[in-house]
Amino acid sequence: MSTVPVAKPAPSSSVAAKNAHNIDSMLKEKRVFKPSAKFAAAARIGSFKKYEKMYKASLKDPDQFWGKAAKELTWFRTWKKVCVWKPPFAEWFVGGKINASVNCLDRHLDGPLRNKAAIIFEGEPGDVTTLTYQQLHREVCLVANVLKKHGVKAGDRVMIYLPMIPEAVIAMLACARIGAPHSVVFSGFSAEALKERINDCGAKVVITSDGGFRRGVALKVKRNVDEALLGAPKVKSVLVVQRTKQDVTMTPGRDYWLHEETQQVSSVCKAEPFDSEHPLFILYTSGSTGKPKGILHTTAGYLLGCHLTTKYYFDLRPEDVYFCTADVGWITGHSYVAYGVLSNGGTSLIYEGAPNHPEPDRFWRIIDRHKVNIFYTAPTAIRSFIKWGDEWLAPHDLSSLRLLGSVGEPINPEAWMWYYEKVGGKRCPIVDTWWQTETGCHMIAPMPGATPLKPGSATLPFFGVDAAVVDDNGNETEPNVGGKLVIRRPWPSMLRTIYGDAARYRKTYWSEIKGCYFAGDGARRDKDGYFWIVGRIDDVLNVAGHRLGTSEVESALVSHPDIAEAAVVGRPDELKGQAVVAFVTLKNGVQAGPGLKEALRAHVAKEIGPIAKPDEIRFAEGLPKTRSGKIMRRLLKEVAASPTGEIKGDTTTLEDLNVIAKLKQAED
Ligand code: PRX
Repeated sequence: MSTVPVAKPAPSSSVAAKNAHNIDSMLKEKRVFKPSAKFAAAARIGSFKKYEKMYKASLKDPDQFWGKAAKELTWFRTWKKVCVWKPPFAEWFVGGKINASVNCLDRHLDGPLRNKAAIIFEGEPGDVTTLTYQQLHREVCLVANVLKKHGVKAGDRVMIYLPMIPEAVIAMLACARIGAPHSVVFSGFSAEALKERINDCGAKVVITSDGGFRRGVALKVKRNVDEALLGAPKVKSVLVVQRTKQDVTMTPGRDYWLHEETQQVSSVCKAEPFDSEHPLFILYTSGSTGKPKGILHTTAGYLLGCHLTTKYYFDLRPEDVYFCTADVGWITGHSYVAYGVLSNGGTSLIYEGAPNHPEPDRFWRIIDRHKVNIFYTAPTAIRSFIKWGDEWLAPHDLSSLRLLGSVGEPINPEAWMWYYEKVGGKRCPIVDTWWQTETGCHMIAPMPGATPLKPGSATLPFFGVDAAVVDDNGNETEPNVGGKLVIRRPWPSMLRTIYGDAARYRKTYWSEIKGCYFAGDGARRDKDGYFWIVGRIDDVLNVAGHRLGTSEVESALVSHPDIAEAAVVGRPDELKGQAVVAFVTLKNGVQAGPGLKEALRAHVAKEIGPIAKPDEIRFAEGLPKTRSGKIMRRLLKEVAASPTGEIKGDTTTLEDLNVIAKLKQAED
């Protein structure tokens, strides 16, 4: 591959190179995959030159770029000013009037999209429901009118606590239609977590369901709401979707069946124009410590970010069936199950249940059954597929797939290769998307059909995104020297604040590096300017004076044929500063033993260098993860540091408490 001449990191003479706080990078990943001529010929951005030209132009005159792009949305009134930036507060498309639900629904009703599937839903028991744009529009109008009937006005917050069923998207769009910011809480979260979020945002209505199906059982969703509301007295109405038909307690005067309520209202709900900066939603993100942060996104800028990135990064076409496996309780579900897909007139496939129910081939079955063209999932899922074994893919026809996406964590190069070869049949570009709840939409990712791919790298920034890797003084690091990943200017879909806490917003995101948004991630850029995320800055290891990102050591371990998953943490060590402790899970059928430990240590030494050789390797059945699938290294650090494996830290966001109990017994 020729070198990529965009946005190169600083030359090697930079003082930054000598900064002691940089992160050393040693992983040697050399593979490069050019876009296939066939994909490029049909893609929106079909050559690297075109991407580069558009990227440069977008940075040269961002107002011109974003202003032109925003014309793709439907407005009641166009804006007067593209961006007003009073650091760290931004306003976008100032003076414009818009409605997000009109952009996702109404504007598709005048043409051929009207009778096209907007949502294809597959329930865990196997039931399938399809909603065309026209049908979805009607459902959204009904629910919007029910909300109005219950006294919800523009600006009032509505809590959504629903499993992955179409009503989750309907509820979000109904809120958007009447200007009521929604706050979706993942339905796997506890009553306590729900209560805390309801009270923080002051919601007065909750939309929930009796339950949902997960691993063959009906979850008790409504029961959690009842418990949460014992401590949230301001909630006046609870609207309940009937999904499982299990018995639930309905409190008279507070709880209403949504299907009964929709029968009492009109199906006509005129969309009101709202200011571009009208709040669209608040989404809570836990962070590693402290109270959850209510990330506030507003209407026009957020929608534009979702619209454009879906269009360019997924190359989404009306005829595609697009399947994103994320729950609506996460930002990925907001931006890439709902808003971005629907604003482009796409077809969003929603699946309710677990990936291994009734067997580990459920996703492949879905792809085959619905002839999915675009599939977007997380590295944690990919590593589970690898662990479960290739035999689960074999009986299914995956030839409809034309593009694969990844999000949530760095994707280890070997997991990337497996995804590329086994799922994508070597013909689908892998779009590894780096972004965050706070950024609203993709920030760094390869343009399919244009950007040469390197397994494990999210590659290059989106248009208008001024991303850089800097040292503690804000100077760009030289190639392959790690530092902090920052964004140096505002972008339309950025968070506007932390709900109710502007000081925390400023301190958390804008105080670390002067004038920059700091994302909390460590990264490096290679000689082609490609970004490699090396892990969270808080997790960086400090071994004998070298600072190592966790992802490189983990990727080296995962590249061993016996290993499914790895998490690496530091343990205080008098001699080296920190000793490297690796927790690994094995592929199905592989036996643990001292021989394998030695082999793994030697393997890491070969892949990275002796400095990164784990001092201790523990075989585990599973790794502690958040409910969205991220490895919780914070807890592993405690397990590694304590002789008894005791955990004192907060475990409320942990997906499966048993994992920790088993880790304590893990062989070391
Ligand atoms: O550490 C990065 C990691 O996930 C963080 C954002 O998490 P959240 O707000 O929950 O949003 C997840 C969905 C966007 C980031 O700070 N992350 C996300 N995507 C990637 C990633 N790390 C590496 N590569 C990615 N593609």
